[in-house]
Amino acid sequence: MHWTVLVLASGLLVVTVALDNGLMRTPPMGWLAWERFRCNTDCERDPKNCISENLFTDMADRLAEDGWRELGYVYITIDDCWASMQRDEQGRLQADPKRFPRGIHRLSRYMHDRGLKLGIYGDMGTHTCGGYPGTPLDKIEVDAQTFADWEVDMLKFDGCYSNTAEQEQGYPRMSKALNATGRPIGYSCSWPAYQGGLPPQVNYGLLAKICNLWRNYADIQDSWDSVLKIVDWFFDNQEVLIAAAGPGGWNDPDMLIIGDFGLSMEQSRSQMALWAIMAAPLFMSNDLRTISSGARSILQNKMAISINQDPLGLQGRRILKEKSGIEVFWRPLSNDASALLFFSRRNDMPYRYQTSLSKLNYTTGIYKVNDVFSGKSVTLKDSSNFVVSVNPTGVVMWYISAPAKPRPLPHQFSRGGRFEEFGRGDLANAIPPVFL
Ligand SMILES: *[C@@H]1O[C@H](CO)[C@@H](O)[C@H](O)[C@H]1NC(C)=O
Ligand SMILES: *[C@@H]1O[C@H](CO)[C@@H](O)[C@H](O)[C@H]1NC(C)=O
Repeated sequence: MHWTVLVLASGLLVVTVALDNGLMRTPPMGWLAWERFRCNTDCERDPKNCISENLFTDMADRLAEDGWRELGYVYITIDDCWASMQRDEQGRLQADPKRFPRGIHRLSRYMHDRGLKLGIYGDMGTHTCGGYPGTPLDKIEVDAQTFADWEVDMLKFDGCYSNTAEQEQGYPRMSKALNATGRPIGYSCSWPAYQGGLPPQVNYGLLAKICNLWRNYADIQDSWDSVLKIVDWFFDNQEVLIAAAGPGGWNDPDMLIIGDFGLSMEQSRSQMALWAIMAAPLFMSNDLRTISSGARSILQNKMAISINQDPLGLQGRRILKEKSGIEVFWRPLSNDASALLFFSRRNDMPYRYQTSLSKLNYTTGIYKVNDVFSGKSVTLKDSSNFVVSVNPTGVVMWYISAPAKPRPLPHQFSRGGRFEEFGRGDLANAIPPVFL
């Protein structure tokens, strides 16, 4: 099948299914506390790094002041361990009074004043994974209303301490309850991760109707090994997952750990690129107060973000797994553009991978190629062989514009356009043999 046929087929598939709350038409972006800050509640000994309102206002200040918000990173999301161990007299959840003295409503106002949004965490079950009060079936409506009263913008709904039958009732019921509050609240469901992530246990058609994003698989940890496990699972199961995703409903391979301790710069670029191919939510879990400039520039890479945020919302796929350890990924983008990603699973040295666009099923002539991380660009004829040098555990990522018209009229060249060489008929010879 030619790519355009695939694009059309999957495009039709997604139009019909997404949750109709108007939210997250592109994958949500922001910051989420869990991976970096876990359930650290020891504010006496570790005041800067404990789960407290100061942590969230600190991160909000960074998003607002360091150029993140303008790029789309707008959700600040609280994870587990924010709540008091007791509900209030009316049976409502309340924040831990020592660590959140001003309460969650003041925190969401703080976000809104800065053009940001607040996400909060709950758990479908008797307790959260960290042992805090959960949301059993009989508390779903009251908790949804509490979150709406606090003007929260997103709910991450975990699934510890509930069984399959309870989850089957609880996740759709929370979706209805959120809708009934009248406040648009993005809804992140951990449900599929508790059911093994695959059909027949997981009904992706239903998930897309009730959730804006869903965690399919295990939690990410601060290591390359963890990133690889997630990537392999998502692409090994890509046929199922691609069909589920689209505007308003996204597969969530979990947080970005770029800027933490476990990834090299190469691996950080790889995570960013692979998450862009997957149309994954981009929730960073890192310390924005101390992040290195290298990690920041990867996370703030505009071309990677625009690939991730492409309005068509089609999740990309792995198209080749070479014996050499090079894997090639492809994602169709709007305006007939696409992203190509070359990923090295090797551990020895930069590998010179030779191919051509035709071998990767690009068959309509001449393409403009922008390298996402080097910023270089070049034009490539479909049949021309080229070599990319891919570093160990690293990537080369390309944004590929729509093909040029095969035979443009002479006047279209009159302003010295970039296809002049093609007009002279020797573009293939003009392509440098190595392009990085
Ligand atoms: C190119 O398309 C053909 C025909 O649909 C398919 O068999 C092949 O796997 C594709 N190649 C790549 C690299 O995607
Ligand atoms: C509730 O659902 C209806 C029907 O799907 C939709 O039109 C409406 O926008 C939703 N409201 C909220 C607040 O999510």
